[in-house]
Amino acid sequence: MGTMVGRRLAQNGYALSLYNRRVDQAEENIAQQRMDSYAELSPALGFEDLHQFVQSLEQPRIIFILVDAGSPTEDVIQELVALVAKGDVIIDGGNAHYDDTTRRCRELNEKGIHFLGCGISGSAEAVKIGLSLMPGGSQEAYAIAVKPLQALAARSVDGSPCCVYIGDEGAGHFVKTVHNGIEYAEMQLIAEVYSLMRWAVELTPNHIADVLANWKNTDANGYLLEITLNILREKKGDHWVLDSILDSAGQKGTGVWAVQAAASFGIPAMMITSALHARYLSSQRHIRQHLNDVSASQSKKNSSVSTNDVFNAFQLARLINYHEGFAIIRAASKQFGWNIDLASLSKIWTNGCIIRSALMNKFAILWSTWNDELILHDEVKAVIKSGWPGLRRIIQVASSEAIFTPCLVSASQYIAGASLRYPAANLIAAQRDYFGNHGFWAIDDPTNTLHHYPWKRE
Ligand code: 6PG
Repeated sequence: MGTMVGRRLAQNGYALSLYNRRVDQAEENIAQQRMDSYAELSPALGFEDLHQFVQSLEQPRIIFILVDAGSPTEDVIQELVALVAKGDVIIDGGNAHYDDTTRRCRELNEKGIHFLGCGISGSAEAVKIGLSLMPGGSQEAYAIAVKPLQALAARSVDGSPCCVYIGDEGAGHFVKTVHNGIEYAEMQLIAEVYSLMRWAVELTPNHIADVLANWKNTDANGYLLEITLNILREKKGDHWVLDSILDSAGQKGTGVWAVQAAASFGIPAMMITSALHARYLSSQRHIRQHLNDVSASQSKKNSSVSTNDVFNAFQLARLINYHEGFAIIRAASKQFGWNIDLASLSKIWTNGCIIRSALMNKFAILWSTWNDELILHDEVKAVIKSGWPGLRRIIQVASSEAIFTPCLVSASQYIAGASLRYPAANLIAAQRDYFGNHGFWAIDDPTNTLHHYPWKRE
């Protein structure tokens, strides 16, 4: 990412100093190597000494850090703090935890140094199309750094930069965390849709790619869909490249933070949580190998499912995923007083980032006139109402074929749990009152008073 950021800034006419630490025999002359590899970086100044790097910059300095989150970021910030001057701006473009960013904003602010925690999302084409940037921190710092940040940004449908001030302190890194939670669920959903078409409908990867290519003319179109159909078409000799890849998916932590954030705010995020846990499960090879004979013994029932049904289920589940993500952001924004503007946020997610899609273009418009939960919007409700029966049919097929579809199931169960048709939580409330005298709310009492019942306990 550091190289992409440097190249894009250089292409936009910025004079750069590049720094990469020196680790003997592991990281040597990295800045110089990049300058030798990319023509646009050749006029830059390259450093392995942080002091010399800082001295090479004009004040107020704008220093962009792109290193791994956690101690690598902490270490470099601590080193920089000793070298920079009051009024300089340090931007952390990594995937930092938003609480760390809030702490750093406060600590650096006390020293008169500006700090921005800038969530960045970008694909391999970032040098060409730009990135989606989510800066958070002081408005003053943003005002100093806005031009280079906007130069880095991709352009949204109306030509505006995919970079907007998100809010104070950790707001930028928070929305990036949720972006990644949404990304996890969207990737898992695509994998489930692939799985259904591959193993229940028994289509080849190439045929599935053709189906996905047809979806490109709809709201389903997006970066993750596009890369998926390219991946599905990839062959090495007679074999699909995909079939040579172990079905174990890793993760670097932002999905965990998104799920933790949802839980801490009391926001149901069943799909994002399922997607994270699906990755964990995929990595438990020892369990999966031992249980293989259980699933192998399930007979196939030759269920029929149309690709159109799969499409509708996918689109509906995506809406629930976005509803969960936006709900987490709404809750955090309220709690921390960030005033996050969801229309602007959706707009900077329409290009450059991993979750860019045709649907995001619609959210950018929808949020400009809507200030409630996404799932309550009339258009979203209408899709849920018309599409839910189809989603349930798809899940039946997945279940009868023993195909792993936790996100599709979570989407459907979210809808079931979000309506009042079949009450069951009253039983939980009664159990809590029975064993712990915790009380329950009564249907015929709107005053929020806790009631107790003299349960027979023998
Ligand atoms: C992005 C991505 C990126 C993330 C990778 C890997 O928006 O550019 O989200 O920030 O690092 O997607 O994340 P995981 O390793 O957690 O899958």
